Order: sequence, then structure tokens, then C-alpha cells
Amino acid sequence: MTDKYRFPDDFLWGTATSAYQIEGSPTADGAGRSIWHRFSHTPGNTWLDQTGDIACDHYRRYKDDVATMAELGTNAYRFSVAWGRIYPEGTGAVNKKGIDFYSRLVDELLKKGIKPNVTLYHWDLPEALDDRGGWLNRDIADWFCDYAVTMWDALGDRVEMWTTLNEPWVVTDGGYLAGVLAPGHSNLFEAPIATHNLMRAHGMAVERFRSSKAAKKGKIGITVNLEPKYPASQSAEDMDAVRRADAYMNRQYLDPVLRGHYPEEMKEIFGEAWPEWSEADMRQIKQPIDFLGINYYTRKVERYHPDHLPLKTKHVPQSDAPMTETHWEVFPEALTKVLLWVTERYGKLPIYITENGAAFYDPPQPIDGKIEDPLRVEYFRQHLRAAHDAMRQGVDLRGYFAWSLLDNYEWSLGYSKRFGLVHVDYSTQQRTIKSSGRYYSEVIRSKGAALSR
Ligand code: FCB
Repeated sequence: MTDKYRFPDDFLWGTATSAYQIEGSPTADGAGRSIWHRFSHTPGNTWLDQTGDIACDHYRRYKDDVATMAELGTNAYRFSVAWGRIYPEGTGAVNKKGIDFYSRLVDELLKKGIKPNVTLYHWDLPEALDDRGGWLNRDIADWFCDYAVTMWDALGDRVEMWTTLNEPWVVTDGGYLAGVLAPGHSNLFEAPIATHNLMRAHGMAVERFRSSKAAKKGKIGITVNLEPKYPASQSAEDMDAVRRADAYMNRQYLDPVLRGHYPEEMKEIFGEAWPEWSEADMRQIKQPIDFLGINYYTRKVERYHPDHLPLKTKHVPQSDAPMTETHWEVFPEALTKVLLWVTERYGKLPIYITENGAAFYDPPQPIDGKIEDPLRVEYFRQHLRAAHDAMRQGVDLRGYFAWSLLDNYEWSLGYSKRFGLVHVDYSTQQRTIKSSGRYYSEVIRSKGAALSR
């Protein structure tokens, strides 16, 4: 074994999950329903109408799951808080039992030497707030801040890493434009408003964080999902298509947070649906952050397509490329590329890969007590090497969180896609560490050296 892929001693090696995808018991102990509860309980929205009602039953099995994280050798864990467990009505009275759950989880993690990275919003808006307009209501920035302050007061003495939002692009694109994710709207004029209110909520929360109790110990950032865009040809039309696709997905959220304005292309894409935003809002959004979380899964090749609105681009599947079960091309070099791009465009800042992983077919039940998943092992090997490569080239990469700890509820795709390092038999809730989980452990224990094999 060589030291070619050696990672720093203080590198964070984690796994990631989100509340609605693993917890189950969505209304237990006084919790309020979320938009995902409503969306998944509406027939026709999800694969086989599956819901997160039970999911991985993590709400009740969290201790065992933390023990599994320790067995894997991870030293960090990224999870999200279900807003509706804390504020069942979205605002107003706090539900102490909801706070207690996350407090117990944090204590359990710390007992095992696992650092919590807490995401405040991973898509499960309280239904009560959606009834008041959700991300389309300007007041949501205040609602979000009140909730954030409550969490900082409750856990700020023990949590060092806070993330405001997970993947605002997906919230807007899936929830307000394509309509395939909760709340399931498809409206060109709503999408820019949702984007802007997400950004305002993020900025206001970061500003409030600085004077909160949690700031003594903690740091705050945001997680975005990035996908390098490649042109299908060198034609002017395709190059332009790539510029729009890149602005829409990769710069729409990073530019306002780190540069204080939206990309020029937003107007070109949305036309009259893209409003002029006030200077005061833009100043509010551009709050210095302590770190950036990046979720990376794949790249996309884009071609000009006049009928494909509003972007006028179409993704071109690469027929000879290796694909995951979600039809995402396996393309590790774009992870290096995207990390270098962020560092170059926005300046050097601490970065964590907050999600990276792959759905491949695994059987519903273990075979001879085992789950062999060589394709996922290879995916992790290649992407961790690519991450190391970026670090070697100067990216300030501080940690890596594999998506996901467990097989879980993959939103509209229900339980049909398995992303876990740990297999879940949904008929018994039995957990089995897959060979990818064992492999990740080896990488962690060898501080990366095992990647050279
Ligand atoms: C990301 C989400 C995460 C999971 C993975 C596969 O976009 O943040 O919840 O669904 O994709």
C-alpha cells in the first residue's frame, strides 16, 4: 500500500441521511405533518404510492444506527431535523418532545466520537407553512430563522456544524417548476420566487447565527448540488445551452451567496417571470459562510433544444457510459473538476462533500447474510480518488459524507433505489453492512491508503 491517497488526520469521514428519508413515525410525539407526508399520501405521486411512514424506523432505532456508524469507523454524521417535529404548526408553540429526539441523537453520536453536521432544511416543510404559501411567502425567512434559533438554543452547546439548506436547486426545480417533488407545483412564475425566498432564509439565518449561542462553538454553511455541464458539440448553440444549464444549476445559488447577485442568464431563462430583486435583499443573502457543502453525483451533457422550456437545452444520455440505477452517468473526473471550479470562481474556502454515492441493484434480502455490491465499491473508490486529486491540486477539502448510511426512501422513487452502505431489509428492518460499507471502513481506517488498491 502506498501513501498516494493519504488524507489529513483531521479529515471528516462521514455518512449522510435526511429526516423524512429514514426516520419514519412522521407524526409521533406531537410532530406536525410535512409537505412530503401530504405529497406521498396523494395517490400517483410516488413509486407504488410509497410513503415515509415507516422508512428505516430510525426514529426508534437511532441508537443501533449510531452503533453501525461507529462500527464503520466514521467520525462524522450529517442528518437533518424535521422542522415539523419542532414546530408542529410551523410557527408558534415548540414541541419539546421533537427537540428531545434530536438531543438524544446528538448525545449518542458524541458518545461514540461522531461529529454531528445538522441540516436545518432537507425538503420536509411543515404542511401548516405550505398552507400559508410555503416558499412563496416572503415571511418564510422569519419562520425559518425562528426555527433555526430554537435549534441553536437546544443543540448549540454540542453541535459544531450547521447547514441551513440542502440543495435549494432541487427544492425549486423539483417542487415548483417540474412538480415531481413536494409540494408538486409546476409554475414558471413561482420558481424564481421560491429560489429567492430560499436564499433570503439562508442569508437571514446566517446573519442571526453570528449572535446566537451556537456561534461560540459552531460554524455555518449551505449545501448545494453541482453537476458540471458538457456541450454535446462545439456548435455555438450547444455552447450557449451549456452556459444556461450551468447558470441554472450551478451558479443560481452560489452566485448570490458568494457574490451577491444572480447569474445574468436567469433573466434569459425565465424572461418576464424573473423579477428584479432589491439591493437590500441581495446584501442580506451575501453573508459570509464558514464552509460550503457540495453534493456531487454525476455530470450532464447538454444539447440546444428550442422546445425544451424554459432552458432550451436537453440532456443527452451517453449510451456507452456506465450508469447507476437512477440513470446517472458514473463520471468521477467531474467531481475533481467541480471542486477546482468552485475554488477558482469563488476563492478558496473550506469545502465538504456532503453527499456522493450511487444506487445500484441490491437484493431485497441479504444472500447468505451478505450483500455484495462491487459496483458501489468501485463508485466510492473512484470518487474518493477524484476528491483526493482535487485536494492535491489545492482545494480546501475538509471532509466527505457518503450518501447514504442506509438504504432509504428515495423521494418520488420510493424504496425502489438503494443508496446505502448498509442494506435495509424493509420487511424486518434488519441492517446488513454491504461490501461497500466494509470498503469505506477500510479506506477510513487507512486514512485513504486503501484507495490505491
Ligand atoms: C440528493 C438528495 C438526497 C438523496 C440523493 C440521492 O439530491 O439531497 O436526499 O435523495 O440525492
